[in-house]
Formats: sequence, structure tokens, C-alpha cells
Amino acid sequence: MSEQKTYTMIKPDGVRNGHVGEIVNRFERAGLTIERMELGMVTLAQAQANYAEHEGKPFYDGLIAYITSGPVVKMVVSGEGAVAKVRTLMGATNPADAAPGTIRGDFGLIMDENVIHGSDSPASAEREIGIFFN
Ligand code: TYD
Ligand code: MG
Repeated sequence: MSEQKTYTMIKPDGVRNGHVGEIVNRFERAGLTIERMELGMVTLAQAQANYAEHEGKPFYDGLIAYITSGPVVKMVVSGEGAVAKVRTLMGATNPADAAPGTIRGDFGLIMDENVIHGSDSPASAEREIGIFFN
């Protein structure tokens, strides 16, 4: 594995339910470095760009409404194999399937509000960092 950057974002439920500090702590304990971090809203254009691959799917409109519904924490995280490392720390997409000890397993309640986003490849990471941090 090589040194990578990834884009990760604590979703509105993660911020609202008070999991920001614990999630950042888990990243740091895993040896990852927080390169950039910003609390703020996601614009409609950013949400549509980030989730373009899901356009037309039954959950798309709800996903866009949800991710723009309240403040999120946007981060660029770096380290050895950072893309896969963050995905492992996140756990499965559906919190019901996510293992205990993962962020979604510990803090997620339902698929629609699953605490955290993380890029799924180095190419996605580069694209998503460009969407959220110019
Ligand atoms: P996806 O990219 O498949 O998952 P991940 O976030 O693990 O990369 O889906 C993006 C988000 O869309 C997911 O985090 C939650 C939402 N979603 C639903 O609400 N219902 C679904 O059936 C799927 C697949 C995703
Ligand atoms: Mg995805």
C-alpha cells in the first residue's frame, strides 16, 4: 500500500448525535492524519456531484435531501492505504450489517442515516476532494 488521501464526511446524524470527537479519535488512533477538516453544510450541487453514481436509484432523492439537511464535518484524511483503512473503520453500508467496533456498527441506526461517508477508491477520493475542497 502507498501513502494516500481520502475524502470522508461525518453525516448530519453523526454530527447531531455527538460522534465527531470519537470518529476523529478513531482515525488518529489508526495512524491516519487529518489534513483538512471543516464543519458546514453540503450544497445541493456538491451533493449531486458526490452521489452522481446513484442518480435514478430509488433512494437517491432521499439521500440528497438527507445529506443537505444539516451540518456535516468534511475531512481530507491521509496515510498508508488511507482509502481502504477509512472504509474498514466505517463498516458496512447498512448499520444493521456493520460489525461492532466499526463506526456504523457502533453509531448507525438505519441505512438512510449511516453516520459517515468515505471515498471508495483513490480516483473517487481525488474527485470528491475536488468537490468539497477547492
Ligand atoms: P453506497 O455508495 O452504496 O454506500 P457507501 O456509503 O457505503 O459507499 O451508497 C451511498 C449512500 O446511499 C449510503 O451511504 C446510504 C445510501 N443508501 C441508501 O439509503 N439505500 C440503499 O439501498 C443504498 C445502497 C445506499
Ligand atoms: Mg459509496
